Amino acid sequence: MPDGMNVDYDGLIPNNVDLNADARVRKALETWHPGYIDWWKDMGPEGFQEALVYLRTAVSVDPKGWARFDYVRMPDYKWGILLAPKVEGRLIGFGQHRGEPAWQEVPGEYRGMLRRLLTIQGDTEPASVEQQRFLGKTAPSLYDMRNLFQVNVEEGRHLWAMVYLLQKHFGKDGREEAEDLLRRRSGNEDSPRMLGAFNEETPDWVSFFMFTFFTDRDGKMQLEALAQSGFDPLSRTCRFMLTEEAHHMFVGETGVQRVIERTCAAMRAAGIEDPSDVERVRALGVVDLPTLQKKMNLHFSLTLDLFGNEVSTNAANAYNSGLKGRYREDKLDDDHRLLDSAYPVLRCVDGVIAEEAVPALSALNMRLRDDYVVDCQGGVNRWNKAIEKAGVAFRLTLPHVAFNRKIGEFSRIHADPEGRVLPPEQWAANRDRWLPSTEDNLYIVSLMTPVDNAGGYAPWIASPKVGIDNKPGDFEYVKLWD
Ligand SMILES: [Fe+2]
Ligand SMILES: [Fe+2]
Repeated sequence: MPDGMNVDYDGLIPNNVDLNADARVRKALETWHPGYIDWWKDMGPEGFQEALVYLRTAVSVDPKGWARFDYVRMPDYKWGILLAPKVEGRLIGFGQHRGEPAWQEVPGEYRGMLRRLLTIQGDTEPASVEQQRFLGKTAPSLYDMRNLFQVNVEEGRHLWAMVYLLQKHFGKDGREEAEDLLRRRSGNEDSPRMLGAFNEETPDWVSFFMFTFFTDRDGKMQLEALAQSGFDPLSRTCRFMLTEEAHHMFVGETGVQRVIERTCAAMRAAGIEDPSDVERVRALGVVDLPTLQKKMNLHFSLTLDLFGNEVSTNAANAYNSGLKGRYREDKLDDDHRLLDSAYPVLRCVDGVIAEEAVPALSALNMRLRDDYVVDCQGGVNRWNKAIEKAGVAFRLTLPHVAFNRKIGEFSRIHADPEGRVLPPEQWAANRDRWLPSTEDNLYIVSLMTPVDNAGGYAPWIASPKVGIDNKPGDFEYVKLWD
């Protein structure tokens, strides 16, 4: 077996980084551990800490068969430190150090920048657990409840992943950052999480599915870019995190898909031809497609803000120094330095949206965002196939990137979902046509009555085609009492 393939489960902290031989880091992590458990009990899934949940736990980093399924109480979950196996002779793939051996230690000159990247990534992980902590109470099935908790424990593990790197490579500064990651709280006025979308509420399950589809996919893009890093421990950490992340997006995509299937089936059974006849569709107790579109508009636009400014010297510096690459950098065919190339960026000049060629190095946020949009579109196409298959005349579309933005080029203007610039009054007058209104949200919340008998599903969502770990339809994914 290659180095680091086996996971040591004997100690308090499962790991494949030989923590036993590293007394300093082991002590730092063991000191941090009680605070983490307190945070989990405080801010993790409320009301389900004692439930037995059928969870997968990583037991190896072998891409085939890295997980084991079993009933676990979430506070007893084996959160561990898992890095993808080391690739011998790995070289830095981009930027000014391209071709040099990948770093095993942090280069002094990049310490500040790297610490910032790790902290920002780390902050998003517990934030999403906090955002989702009340959703267990309204789960539409035990299957969905289990998926929610799986996502939650893995986000917890992702926090561990970043904390390990901070504590191992950044000494006292790293330990302080690790403490702060447990101190900030999503949506808290005094000490909020670092990024906007991670301070929003996730008040219902449609929001949860949209969040895991859109916002966890931003996570995927960031991890892909960091997986290219010349700092090898970060690359290895992110490569393993990506194997877990795939499930989060599966939960989002299939969740929305099942909402669509149920809505379309109910509409057909009732003989409703017009999807925009919201009142009649809602009378059936399902999520009307126009509201689904509005939820999509909201979560897509909030998530685009996470990519930061379209033109950014920070992004250029992170690339140039070999810390953060492009999406699938190792599959791209160019000079991997980008000193002489340009990239087209949509900008807002005198209130008009127009494309402009900017130096490719400073357009890296934009480029990652473009790759993200393509990735989203694939999922939206599959949703539209499901609508088409059901014989309903409706199409979901991603709104224009200028729509509803708070960060970057378009934060200064108002644009409709087609990307037409509007005066503020016109935006305000139409806002509720494009984004969920209070009434829409109240309607969705009114559907959120929990279903907790094995094999049962809330009437607004279809059952999944396949069970988790190939379990049968009536499998008890969560044992609430025992
Ligand atoms: Fe994550
Ligand atoms: Fe995730």
